[in-house]
Parts: sequence; C-alpha cells; structure tokens
Amino acid sequence: MDKQNQSDKLLIKGHQYDGIQEFDNPTPLWWHLIWLFTMVFSVVYFFLSLESPWFVHQTDRLAAAQLAETARLFGALGDLQADEATLVSLMQDEKWMDFGASIFQMHCTSCHAADGGGGIGPNLTDDNYINVTSITDIHTIIVDGANNGAMPAWGNRMHPKEAVLLSSYVASLRGNNSNRKAPEGEIIAPWPAAEEGG
Ligand code: HEC
Repeated sequence: MDKQNQSDKLLIKGHQYDGIQEFDNPTPLWWHLIWLFTMVFSVVYFFLSLESPWFVHQTDRLAAAQLAETARLFGALGDLQADEATLVSLMQDEKWMDFGASIFQMHCTSCHAADGGGGIGPNLTDDNYINVTSITDIHTIIVDGANNGAMPAWGNRMHPKEAVLLSSYVASLRGNNSNRKAPEGEIIAPWPAAEEGG
C-alpha cells in the first residue's frame, strides 16, 4: 500500500454498498467562512436596523411626512386668534377637530378621560362648568391652568395654534354628556352658533 493509498484510506468512510464507497470530502474552508460571515452579518445587521442612523425606517419616513404636512397646514391656518368666532368656526372643521382630539388624547385624558367625561378633572361633556362662562374661557384655562395648578397650565407646553385648536375641540365635547363624572359648577349659556356659511 503506497502512501497515496494510505491517506485515501483515512478519507474513505467505513461503509460500502454494492461496492460503492463514500469519500469523506469535507466542505472547503472558504465555504465555512462564507457561512460564518453570513451569521455574523445577520446579527450585526439586526442591531444596526434597530438603532443605526444609516437605516431610515418606513415609520420614520411616515412621521416626517406627517410632521411636514402638519407644518404646511399650520402655515395655511394663518394667524389663529383665540376669539369666539374662530373657536366656534373651527368646531365645524372635521380635520382640525381630529387634530385637536389627538392633542387631547396625548395630554388630557389622564385627568379628563378619553371621552372627556372627567376623572381627576371635571366632566367636559356636560353643560356645567367651574371656571368657564364663555367659549374663550376654555382657552384661558388651558393656557393658564386653574385651581393652583390642579389643572396644569399648558401655555408654554404647546404651540399657540395647538392651544386654539385644542380649545375648540374641548368646546366640541360639550353635549356628548358622558355620565362618567357628575356635573360640577354652574350650567352656562350655550356656545354661540356658528356664522352662516362660516
Ligand atoms: C393633572 C390633571 C389634569 C390634566 C392633565 C388636565 N386637566 Fe384640565 N382640569 C383639571 C382639574 C383638577 C380641573 C378643575 C380645576 C378647578 O377645580 O378649578 C380642570 C379643569 C379644566 C377645564 C375647565 C373646566 C371647568 O369646568 O371649569 C378645562 C377646559 C380643562 N381642564 C381642559 C383640559 C385640557 C384641554 C387638558 C389637556 C391639555 C387638561 N385639562 C389636562 C385637571 C387636569
């Protein structure tokens, strides 16, 4: 048995079928390296995709687009005064009421509940109010707070236009009559009607 045959022997597997033997031919090193590389790469890629600034996610793109759109609409709103006419007419604008609702959901529900029916704070859906006698008072209370901060002041925590849109949204909650919390304060006169064609 020459040298070549001897080393072949080591590489030939012990079994044999119909005279056919199996040569133990290991996968080459480069193949293992590629395999190893893909494993390492997948782990690295996974964490990069979560955190890295190089990856821009669909959701980030959507948020940026929404922000840009809001900024555009905000610009289109023009000068927004917290006066009676503005607050009343905004109540007719479904798009801006949706926007007001989103601010309400973000900041106000912990004390006034998701439907505005009250909790720590009073019910905002009935005809009774503690600090409000006219629709513009809502804006004043939101901006300045009330009762020594029991109702926090939001004036420096949101854009002035947000405060106006939110005020109008809060006014629109009136009449929903959630029975979550009993009425507090006095029954006040209805909000002024929206102007014709406005
Ligand atoms: C930490 C709890 C808390 C949060 C958060 C809060 N409020 Fe209030 N809110 C109160 C309390 C308490 C009062 C009642 C104050 C009083 O007794 O004079 C109140 C009163 C009000 C009133 C006047 C109601 C009335 O009957 O006079 C309005 C309007 C109002 N909140 C709107 C909002 C809006 C809009 C937000 C979100 C930006 C908000 N509140 C967030 C606790 C809160």
